[in-house]
Amino acid sequence: MSRDFVHKTVMTVEALDALKPVPGGRYADGTIGGGGHAEAILARSSPTGWLSGCDQDGAAVEAATKRLAQYAGRFEIRRGNFSELADWVEAGSCDGVLYDLGVSSPQLDMAERGFSFQQEGPLDMRMDARSTVTAADLVNTASAEELAKIFWEYGDERDSRRFAKAIVHDRELRRFTTTKQLAELIERISPRHGRKAHPATKVFQALRIAVNDEIGSLKRGLAAAMKILKPGGRLAVITFHSLEDRVVKDFGRAGARDYTFTGGIDVPELREPRQPELSLVTRKAILPGEVELAENPRSRSAQLRVFEKI
Ligand SMILES: C[S@@+](CC[C@H](N)C(=O)[O-])C[C@H]1O[C@@H](n2cnc3c(N)ncnc32)[C@H](O)[C@@H]1O
Repeated sequence: MSRDFVHKTVMTVEALDALKPVPGGRYADGTIGGGGHAEAILARSSPTGWLSGCDQDGAAVEAATKRLAQYAGRFEIRRGNFSELADWVEAGSCDGVLYDLGVSSPQLDMAERGFSFQQEGPLDMRMDARSTVTAADLVNTASAEELAKIFWEYGDERDSRRFAKAIVHDRELRRFTTTKQLAELIERISPRHGRKAHPATKVFQALRIAVNDEIGSLKRGLAAAMKILKPGGRLAVITFHSLEDRVVKDFGRAGARDYTFTGGIDVPELREPRQPELSLVTRKAILPGEVELAENPRSRSAQLRVFEKI
């Protein structure tokens, strides 16, 4: 990767405050990206803290490895999904685990990755270039019902059905291959009329979530984090949209309960007492401070939740 990999790390102070890295501590960063959080964790846990990092994007692994060169011997970075962290990080070994979800700025900025409706690029959106299904595959082969479901569930898009139908109609004439082609179709059906956000924003978000199975990975990743944490270790998760945050919030609530219930419905008669698995370090999500909000527009949608394994 010859171009610079520049990503402005979000909520570093709050994340460090949550994980409280110390010398000798062991940490995992499941979304190493450009290595911003990882560098802060390694610096704070100097001279003997250890970091296991991963990212499913090869360019991120390369960039983070370069950035962390001064800490050589204190970290290992692998290319892979954080849902697989427990396959190579020892169970019960970590004092802290961090997930900073979503895409990095370089992923968005590189037109050829296909994440941005503002730049002409292939309709790709894979964070892991080794995976086989691209956004173009979904757009060209999924049924109208499947596409509408993706736009509705992952994008909260009110026009999901209309957009899905139009895509299925248009693709009979011509395959969708580029970001602009899709963005223009959406704009044609739903003109901007002075709206601030581009009408294709939610469709692009939804496709990205589907292509990368982001919700499935997140659920499996939260379970993996619990496996590799020590009792007393902390999990910090930064999310960027309400769907992700809901998954993280529900995970925290379920883990903090001192009972389980059967049949999918929580009624007092069906509760079985048990030890909670975690505690909520703060009841509400932590938001970025004013200075960060002013300096980094990307931080505006960030929310941090912190849990402690029991
Ligand atoms: C917001 S960036 C992380 C930035 C990083 N914290 C920093 O300070 O530079 C998110 C990164 O997570 C990666 N990612 C997203 N979901 C992932 C998953 N399930 N497994 C591994 N990496 C993932 C993306 O490829 C991206 O590089």
